[in-house]
Amino acid sequence: MNIAILGFGTVGSGVYDIVANGDRRMRVTAIFIRPTHPATMPEMTTDFDAILADPSIDVVVEAIGGLHPAYDYILRALRHGKHVVTANKAVVARYLPEFITTAEQHHVRFYFEATTGGGIPWIRNLERAARIDQVDTIEGIFNGTSNYILDQMQRAHLDFDPVLLAAKDMGYAEADPSADIDGDDIVNKLKISAALAYNMVPPRDVPKFGIRHVSKADIDFFAKHHQVLRLIGKSKRIGDHYSMVVEPRLYPATALAANTFENFNLIRLHGQTIGDLQFYGQGAGKYPTANAIVQDLFDILEKVTHLKRDFKQTLQFDPDLSVADYLLRADPLTFAMFNDKQTEVIDHRLLIKQIPVGEMHRLMRGVLAIDAHAFMAAIGDSELVARDVKQQLDQEVIG
Ligand code: HSE
Repeated sequence: MNIAILGFGTVGSGVYDIVANGDRRMRVTAIFIRPTHPATMPEMTTDFDAILADPSIDVVVEAIGGLHPAYDYILRALRHGKHVVTANKAVVARYLPEFITTAEQHHVRFYFEATTGGGIPWIRNLERAARIDQVDTIEGIFNGTSNYILDQMQRAHLDFDPVLLAAKDMGYAEADPSADIDGDDIVNKLKISAALAYNMVPPRDVPKFGIRHVSKADIDFFAKHHQVLRLIGKSKRIGDHYSMVVEPRLYPATALAANTFENFNLIRLHGQTIGDLQFYGQGAGKYPTANAIVQDLFDILEKVTHLKRDFKQTLQFDPDLSVADYLLRADPLTFAMFNDKQTEVIDHRLLIKQIPVGEMHRLMRGVLAIDAHAFMAAIGDSELVARDVKQQLDQEVIG
């Protein structure tokens, strides 16, 4: 099987290395690079049309990232009868149904394991669960960079900025790391997961709040109360309604999420017959991500088919489906916005109890208009382990 790799950055070069040292049935015969990139290997070319026109190339691995021109390259490769494998979360979250339909029309495969959870075999296991169960919950740590930052801030007592630089050096962060720290990367991974789990087109806008404004004082405050901060994504389905959210959340120091360190991800699904399933592994990095791509290449080579979805299920998106408690650190002037809620002030922070998640995110926009550096973290919701956190916080903080 002959492979063309588009892009020779962290992920593309990782795929090259694994294929070059692996199964002899696969060969990288073309590497598409930008004209500004030095052509240091004989496989390198700046001519994408030549790759499309080459009948010996069976598969295109898209490792450029971003929406454009990746969208165009993927569609053109599929239309030219080439299988496509990608790690590109942004483009898959936006165009998955179109890519699947185009692949079917041209009798080729479109596989995207590496988009979500890095090296964790998450997509294939979510698909396996969805063959039998109606998956009703998807939840967890979906971003290696933000987890690395929060972990290093807590365990190594480092500041945000140098840790972010280290995450970039290690190949965890996106070219523009805003997507990692503001939650957009998790939104994309959650959209892909929910689209597969619920067989529907995800909403354009998902409530999200990232970790850009988290301070060492926040982390120290949480640690003092045996709480660990993680940036998580969650989607829940009840009947024909579902919610999705990306936000910082506190876990008790003994929870699995709190003990998910460095660039690791921890992702959970729940289905009726399987119950809870959790997946843990490196969620970012050159070889874990490349490994997931090469697993998809093996599936193509060995004609392993993936779950068939038409994304036609109609479900109602309801950001207020879940309620949670939140800890807010902000200018006290903003606390009046929560006058109609049950609240308590703890060490100059506001604990807001049992507020619908969507409402909290809407109110937070008003808080940020007054205090641009405000920070919030969910403490729990009605069904999660995080309920223990609230009890713990009640005992330790409230007294
Ligand atoms: N920047 C992403 C992360 C890469 O840190 O999780 C893997 O998707």
